[in-house]
Amino acid sequence: MNAYAHLDSQVAEALTLPTPERVEFCRSDRWVGYTRASQILKQLDQLLIYPKTLRMPNLLIVGRSGNGKSSILERFAHRHPIQITAAGSPIAPLLYIQMPDTPDETEFWSTILWALGISHREKDPVPIKKRQVKSALQYASVRLLVIDEFNNLTNAGKKAADLLAAIKGLSNDLKISIVAAGTPAAINALNSDPQMKSRFEPAALDRWKLDSEYLRFLASYEQLLPLAEPSELASRQLAPTIYGMAGETVGATVKLLKAAACCAIESGKERIDEQVLKKLGWTKPGEWDDIARRL
Ligand SMILES: Nc1ncnc2c1ncn2[C@@H]1O[C@H](COP(=O)(O)OP(=O)(O)OP(=O)(O)O)[C@@H](O)[C@H]1O
Ligand SMILES: [Mg+2]
Repeated sequence: MNAYAHLDSQVAEALTLPTPERVEFCRSDRWVGYTRASQILKQLDQLLIYPKTLRMPNLLIVGRSGNGKSSILERFAHRHPIQITAAGSPIAPLLYIQMPDTPDETEFWSTILWALGISHREKDPVPIKKRQVKSALQYASVRLLVIDEFNNLTNAGKKAADLLAAIKGLSNDLKISIVAAGTPAAINALNSDPQMKSRFEPAALDRWKLDSEYLRFLASYEQLLPLAEPSELASRQLAPTIYGMAGETVGATVKLLKAAACCAIESGKERIDEQVLKKLGWTKPGEWDDIARRL
């Protein structure tokens, strides 16, 4: 019988690694296909095969910071890499960009051109860049434009409306769908263009609750941490402690589990328990305000 039944078989192999490498293994990102993420990935797959119509459907993945938006997009992008046809032309099902910090139209077009690996002069007039973008997206058969950090649109001030119009124009002309991801501020950004907003379907990543889905996530994540003994993270004792310390976002939970696993390895304990969690010196997300007040 497998001595490490609590671990994924590949992860069990990592138990033989020297301590520093095992710690590095814990710190690297893993993927857990929790229900909501799988649903959203399915929605994204549907968009990829959507026929070219007059009004292309768009999706806005929205959730608090650290709640898994970019991870879903990266997973999706990874599943649909660029391919080259026998004739040598590229087929890129999607293009993944981040909305610039303080965006305007010219920077937006440049961001797309750089993402496509097209060198250009940043100072070129907007219509020239726009034309370049359109022909490059067409050439690469891009069907989906994925824009992360869509909330940065709120930093664009009066230029936000122009930018939304530009994105809408691109979607209309090339018949591509837009997938945007951002914090709830992204919804505010869309409010300035109700017509554009109506083309978006929201895909919310709600705050996590201490429910069966959270317990499943903990149990799945435990299989990915190379610890020789089972921790039973989803148990009645540990799960509420973990949720109390990190709960609410997947990012904070994962950060806590990574730190706890490293501590368990370095201390020779080989499992995560209340003592390990206590030893961590963990700052809860809400405690930042207390620290700021104290200083
Ligand atoms: N499905 C998952 N499985 C395992 N870990 C995950 C998963 N999704 C997210 N994480 C962890 O949570 C962290 C934060 O997730 P992510 O960066 O996707 O959040 P975000 O919503 O994009 O945040 P922000 O709004 O700040 O950009 C990731 O670095 C990763 O460690
Ligand atoms: Mg992100």
